[in-house]
Amino acid sequence: MSRDFEEVARREEMRKVDWRRIKRRKGDEVLETVEEVFDRKTVMALYQMINRGIIGGMRGVVKAGKESRIYWAKGTNEEDLAVKIFLTSSMEFKKSMLQYIHGDPRFKVGHDYRRIVYTWAQKEFRNLTEARNAGVPVPRPIYAYENIVVMEFIGLDGVPSPLLKELPREEITAEVYNEIAGALDSLYRKAGLVHADLSEYNVMVHGNKIFLIDFGQAVSKEHPMAEEFLRRDIGNIIRFFERAGIDAPKEEVVLRWLKRP
Ligand SMILES: Nc1ncnc2c1ncn2[C@@H]1O[C@H](COP(=O)(O)OP(=O)(O)OP(=O)(O)O)[C@@H](O)[C@H]1O
Ligand SMILES: [Mg+2]
Repeated sequence: MSRDFEEVARREEMRKVDWRRIKRRKGDEVLETVEEVFDRKTVMALYQMINRGIIGGMRGVVKAGKESRIYWAKGTNEEDLAVKIFLTSSMEFKKSMLQYIHGDPRFKVGHDYRRIVYTWAQKEFRNLTEARNAGVPVPRPIYAYENIVVMEFIGLDGVPSPLLKELPREEITAEVYNEIAGALDSLYRKAGLVHADLSEYNVMVHGNKIFLIDFGQAVSKEHPMAEEFLRRDIGNIIRFFERAGIDAPKEEVVLRWLKRP
């Protein structure tokens, strides 16, 4: 009941920020939701995706963060898409990004800020792809171009499914913990990746299925800080469940289990 109410409230909130018609070009009906925060290059990148038939139309803002914005969009077959656009103007973000890029043998990066953000978007896309191929429940990655990542939308009619953080107490169960532990197992052992920002804020719960999201900072096992990041991820998840009164194993036990031969 209360969740329904929350969803309605969220929809209303979305409507308020929706349909700001900016930068509308002659004959162009698709890009109705591009806000001032995006520079010309980003708008052009969106046009490019529309021209390539990746995106049919932008619908509304799902969430606006400091470093990125998530939009609800439609594909050319009317399927729901999540479009994550990284802002190319946050200097703070640059500093924090670099520690997750340097040390990961899969990526090289220069000093041009815009390029670093592009690498970040590519990295999120590649991490999602590798995770998905290893059977980790993540939104299906669809496309990445410049500072934009397109993926499967987790939710209904533009309303995102709740985060683990937003679940009512009675829905935080040992089963949900086990699902997340299983996802971590595939992520670490099959994909060879560490999420590195895992917490109740980066797990979505869609019905009885969980999805790990937000993979920009995920690193390969070879990263020198991988073990430290892994410990932190495990710690965050365990703490969340403990606080909700669910018995979860100790951090060391989970770590040993993930590193079993
Ligand atoms: N595939 C998706 N489908 C639906 N909603 C999504 C999807 N991915 C992300 N979201 C929503 O957008 C929010 C932000 O996404 P994400 O965690 O990837 O970005 P972020 O970098 O953490 O943003 P922030 O700057 O807010 O920290 C999520 O909490 C979730 O509610
Ligand atoms: Mg996040």
